[in-house]
Amino acid sequence: MSVGIEHIYAYAPQHALPLPALAEARGVPAEKLTQGLGVRAMAVPLPCEDVVTLAATAGARCLRAAGVDPRTIGMLVVATETGVDHSKPVSIFVHELLGIGPHCRTYEVKHACYGGTAALMTAADWVRANRTKARHALVIAADIARYALGSPGEPTQGAGAVAMLVGPEPRALFLSEESGVHASNVYDFWRPLDRREALVDGKYSIDCYLDALTGAFRAFRDLERPALEEGEGLVDRLARVLYHAPFPKMAAKAHRRLLEVDRGGTTDDLYAASYRDLVAPGLEAVSQVGNTYTASLYFCLASLLEDEGRALSGRRIGLFSYGSGCCAEFFTGVLPAGAATLGATGVRASLAGRRLIDVPTYEQLLHEGEQGGRAPADFTGDFVFAGIRDDRRIYGRAREALAA
Ligand code: COA
Repeated sequence: MSVGIEHIYAYAPQHALPLPALAEARGVPAEKLTQGLGVRAMAVPLPCEDVVTLAATAGARCLRAAGVDPRTIGMLVVATETGVDHSKPVSIFVHELLGIGPHCRTYEVKHACYGGTAALMTAADWVRANRTKARHALVIAADIARYALGSPGEPTQGAGAVAMLVGPEPRALFLSEESGVHASNVYDFWRPLDRREALVDGKYSIDCYLDALTGAFRAFRDLERPALEEGEGLVDRLARVLYHAPFPKMAAKAHRRLLEVDRGGTTDDLYAASYRDLVAPGLEAVSQVGNTYTASLYFCLASLLEDEGRALSGRRIGLFSYGSGCCAEFFTGVLPAGAATLGATGVRASLAGRRLIDVPTYEQLLHEGEQGGRAPADFTGDFVFAGIRDDRRIYGRAREALAA
């Protein structure tokens, strides 16, 4: 059975901090952030937004866009590293907010930024496993990336969610059954239970990412059928390559490594042309939203489909997912004919209604954190986090909360 992503929808908070303003406040050249890291702005959530509201908003819009009744969803997996409880999963809050029925397997999954891919692969296997009945899974990757104020990681924050409807009639992406995986225990990035902000060994995390890419891509390359001819690169068979992008420059570093592994070396000119054609077009959204951890790779995919779904229909693309700690996976997919008519995937809508904030407002929002609260009148999300009462988290629909 051909299985893949039937629909995809992204959502990012509407408030965003332009990186040149952060650079000025921290006394570093703006070019270090806008060119050196490739980030131009990062999304900042309001106190009434948390990972549940982000995930539920993306999920509701994905189901609406696909025209699928929530009660027919048989599996709901939410991938995040911004969990709201040690025990109660984000997914069960989302399950209720979306009106999904009781006969649905639902859980939260965690492995740093790799969680979204773990959930997607599990969901695809679950759809494939039942050959007699078409069934649908909803996978949502959602995160709020947090590093300490003034730390090197600070410019690589962001927030957002991407929902993917997985089923037997993909309009967004047919998923390959083969993939190349690489896992090893490394301490490059972690978030101890008592901390909101991540701890990271930044330079080491880049090395770990590139080593994992080498391992996963080699494993995938060996499985390629028909086998590669002498001198042929796997990359020659791909129309685009999307990478997990904690900051866009990471994708540039990754693509150079991929070409080196694929061809046994590269030149600056070959690399520059390949990066321009295969990688740069998919990075616009993440340069405006920032790091969304589990959702980052899928923001790139949603953006690519919205911008180039028609032009790339029938073409094969490569995807690389990395989660610190670490686990990584390289896989490919083909854009079906339906990609030409997929329409909006939420990326442009997320960026269009944005409100740019200054550094004091950003610092105030970070200080307040996701403590719950009222939504402003121009709030763009579908759901709000009202707060905690009797140790229980309270969520509601944004429109009803605003009317109250
Ligand atoms: N103009 C243009 N580029 C500039 C510059 C300037 N004035 N000043 C510095 N740069 C470039 C640097 O050369 C470097 O690019 P390069 O890596 O291609 O050489 C880039 O800007 C970043 O500078 P660097 O000194 O490495 O930044 P940093 O020490 O502040 O930390 C990270 C960068 C990525 C390590 C840090 O943001 C971080 O820890 N992020 C979180 C972890 C992460 O995202 N890891 C990724 C793998 S999961």
